[in-house]
Amino acid sequence: MIRKRLLVILVLALSVHSIQVNAAEEREPYDDRYCTTCHGTDGRGNYGVQAPRLAGMEAWYLKRQLENFRSGVRGTHPRDIEGIAMRPMASKLSDESIADIIDWVGSWEYIPTEVTIEGDETAGAQLYAQCASCHGQNAEGNEALGAPALQGQNDWYLVTQLKNFKNGWRGAESGDAFGAQMIGMAQMLSDDDAINNVVSYINTLGRK
Ligand code: HEC
Ligand code: HEC
Repeated sequence: MIRKRLLVILVLALSVHSIQVNAAEEREPYDDRYCTTCHGTDGRGNYGVQAPRLAGMEAWYLKRQLENFRSGVRGTHPRDIEGIAMRPMASKLSDESIADIIDWVGSWEYIPTEVTIEGDETAGAQLYAQCASCHGQNAEGNEALGAPALQGQNDWYLVTQLKNFKNGWRGAESGDAFGAQMIGMAQMLSDDDAINNVVSYINTLGRK
C-alpha cells in the first residue's frame, strides 16, 4: 500500500519535473505555473493571497502594470503590502517575457467573479457617475485614457486599490502619471462606506 503510494508520488514528481524541463527549454522561468500559484487557476484571482484576477484583463493594462512593478513605479511604498509581494515577480521579466505572458493570459477563459462586498448600490451609482468619464458607463475601461476595465475584477481587490490610492500608497511614485490621477479621484470617496458602495455598484455592471 505504502509502496504503491510512493510510486504514484514518484511518477507525479517525475512528470512535473519533465514539464518544467520542457518549459525551461521553450520559455524562460517566468513561466505559467508561478503566476497561477498566486493568481489562481486560469488567473481567476485568489483572495487568500490577495492576488487579483488576470483573466480578461486588457493587454495594454497588463503590460503597463508589469512594467510598473518591474521598474518600481508600483509596489514600493512600505504600506503597499500586496504590491510589495507582486513586485519581485515582475522584476526579472524581459520585454519578451512580458509579451509572451500577455499572449498566454489572453488565452484564459473569463469566469464570473463572486460578490464578496456589501454596500449601498444606489449610493454607489451616484458616486460612480464621476468614474464613468474615464472607466466607462459599464466600467468597461477606456484605453485612450489609460483607465482599465473595473467590471469583472474581484471586488475585494478594487476596495484595496481604492484605499491604497486614497492613502497615496499606490500612484505616488514619480513616473506614475496614470496612478497619480487615481489618487485625486479616490479622494472623492469620503470613507470606507463610500468605497464599498461604489464597488457594490461596479459589481452590478458585471461583464457583458
Ligand atoms: C507571490 C504571489 C504572486 C505571484 C507569484 C504573482 N503575483 Fe501578480 N500580484 C500578486 C498580488 C498580491 C497582487 C496585488 C497587488 C496589489 O494589491 O497592488 C498582484 C498584482 C498583479 C497585477 C496588477 C493587476 C491590476 O489589476 O492592476 C498584475 C498585472 C499581476 N499581478 C501579474 C502577475 C503575473 C503576470 C505573474 C507571473 C509572472 C504574477 N503576477 C505573479 C501576487 C503575485
Ligand atoms: C481622470 C480619469 C479617471 C477617473 C475619473 C477615475 N479613474 Fe480610476 N483609474 C484611472 C487610471 C488612468 C487608472 C490606471 C492607473 C494605473 O495605471 O496604475 C485607474 C485605475 C483604477 C483602479 C485600479 C484598477 C486595477 O485593476 O488595479 C480602480 C479600482 C479605479 N481606478 C477606480 C475608480 C473609481 C471607483 C473612480 C471614481 C470614484 C475612478 N476610478 C475614477 C483613471 C480614472
